[in-house]
Amino acid sequence: MLQIEELYVKYPKANDHALTNLKLSLQNGEFVCILGKSGAGKSTFIRCLNGLQRPTSGAVIWNEQNIFQLKQEQLRKTRVEMGMIFQHFNLIPRLTVYQNVLTGMFGKRSPWKNILGLFSKEEKQLALKMIERVDLYDHKDKRVEALSGGQKQRVAIARALLQNPKVFLGDEPVASLDPGTATRIFSLLQSIHKKYDLLTIINVHDVVLAKQFATRIIALKNGEVVFDDVPDKFTDEVYDLVYN
Ligand SMILES: Nc1ncnc2c1ncn2[C@@H]1O[C@H](COP(=O)(O)OP(=O)(O)OP(=O)(O)O)[C@@H](O)[C@H]1O
Ligand SMILES: [Mg+2]
Repeated sequence: MLQIEELYVKYPKANDHALTNLKLSLQNGEFVCILGKSGAGKSTFIRCLNGLQRPTSGAVIWNEQNIFQLKQEQLRKTRVEMGMIFQHFNLIPRLTVYQNVLTGMFGKRSPWKNILGLFSKEEKQLALKMIERVDLYDHKDKRVEALSGGQKQRVAIARALLQNPKVFLGDEPVASLDPGTATRIFSLLQSIHKKYDLLTIINVHDVVLAKQFATRIIALKNGEVVFDDVPDKFTDEVYDLVYN
């Protein structure tokens, strides 16, 4: 469970808060979609959850600890428990699918091993298993720069899965994909969510996708939660409130 307590974020020089008094309890097994207009605070929120963004005040409690009070090494371990995927994939274009997925191991290993690029037989097998899981086995030796957007996002998902995460975070992971591909990526995220019993939290612009896949929708407006309920309750009136 992730517990968010009175979370405030104000960027330096900004007049307003990017996040204001967020209080949320996110349970294992939930598939949460975060909605909101551009600038509503979605990315800031997701980045707070794994400590990439420090809040001005407030806490994110994970494993009974406030992640902002963790030492660097503990925070690194916590981040490994939270797989993250991004809109622009954050892959290394000149490396192959297989090599990119193996980099998911980096968070778990001592730095010198990463530099030497030593991966055990088990680690290599696990990487191949995850590549199979996202249906890219036939492409495993291709350079990532030669893949389509949907294929790249599947590489990023396989890489995040290699961390064996308990939480899956996504910052608009389908924003640069066509609608059909976006739906397929969400289906994949849903099946992974169920198989590994994850807490999945995804920022998305597409309300239809959110309503189709989420078990819970949280909408932000000007950094505040204006809706937090099951998708069926996200009516046209709520839509107007959130987006107008
Ligand atoms: N590094 C930063 N420095 C200053 N202000 C920032 C920074 N990052 C975001 N902001 C501001 O904080 C607010 C929330 O931004 P955020 O990126 O979280 O919104 P978002 O909901 O993810 O938007 P989008 O849908 O466009 O990605 C915005 O007003 C934005 O301008
Ligand atoms: Mg954003």
